[in-house]
Amino acid sequence: MNWGTIDKYAKSLIKEAGHKIRVSFFNTIDVDTKADANDLVTNIDKAIEQFFISRIQSDFPNHFVLGEEGFGDDIRSLDGVIWLLDPIDGTMNFVHQKRNFAISLGIYCDGVGMLGYIYDVMNDDFYHAAKGEGAYYNDEKLPMLEVTPLSEAIIGVNASWVAPNRRIENEPIADMVHKCRGTRSYGSAAMELAYVSSGRIDAYLSLRLSPWDIAGGMVIAEEVGAIGTNLKGEKPNLLNQDTFIVARPGLHDEILRNHIRLK
Ligand code: IPD
Ligand code: CA
Ligand code: CA
Ligand code: CA
Repeated sequence: MNWGTIDKYAKSLIKEAGHKIRVSFFNTIDVDTKADANDLVTNIDKAIEQFFISRIQSDFPNHFVLGEEGFGDDIRSLDGVIWLLDPIDGTMNFVHQKRNFAISLGIYCDGVGMLGYIYDVMNDDFYHAAKGEGAYYNDEKLPMLEVTPLSEAIIGVNASWVAPNRRIENEPIADMVHKCRGTRSYGSAAMELAYVSSGRIDAYLSLRLSPWDIAGGMVIAEEVGAIGTNLKGEKPNLLNQDTFIVARPGLHDEILRNHIRLK
């Protein structure tokens, strides 16, 4: 497999898709809902996923695609080369704010993340990594992450996971919020992974994410020494929805040990 060729191809595909998304704001966007009234999807999420799939299928007919909007393959195992794609991560931001959303793509071979990309479309900020070759923010190589204690850490977490909910004991996670330096919530898991990888925040956690939310970001995060697991400390799930945390080394352990009690 020539990963260098695939890397160049994927970058240019993502940039082209980003351009299509920016241009889409000149037309009316159709907004629909999925699982509930706040789970938004638009004609652009679907069109961008279809754009990627038609290109990948014609240029890499032996590869598989797992995309959020369901136009790709029905993936039951991680065998072979799989492109895990979120055409727009942060659809709510896309609809309401017209910014703060990203294209997220991870290319995996037999379950191993080889290439990862997160493209912050409106800021034209590109995060990418190739396994073993380091991670980049635009053309700048990202340094390895150093250990930070919780008391000096900014944690990416959605307020709904700190308000009482059916998935996690409230007291320990509320205690984390009190003990850390500050919290942020950006509304795009992929961008939050990119922010952990580039040291803008120190950890990000969620009680429910899908493979396409984390696949690209995990390749980038691993290249700078961040630790990503589910909230039980197991390998991230690339086939099904699961809990998720990514953090600087040390901090990952501290949060899991002291502040996460799943119900
Ligand atoms: C969502 C975003 C959001 C996260 C949700 C995801 P989408 O992805 O990443 O930040 O909290 O769990 O589903 O639907 O906008 O691609
Ligand atoms: Ca969605
Ligand atoms: Ca997503
Ligand atoms: Ca999406």
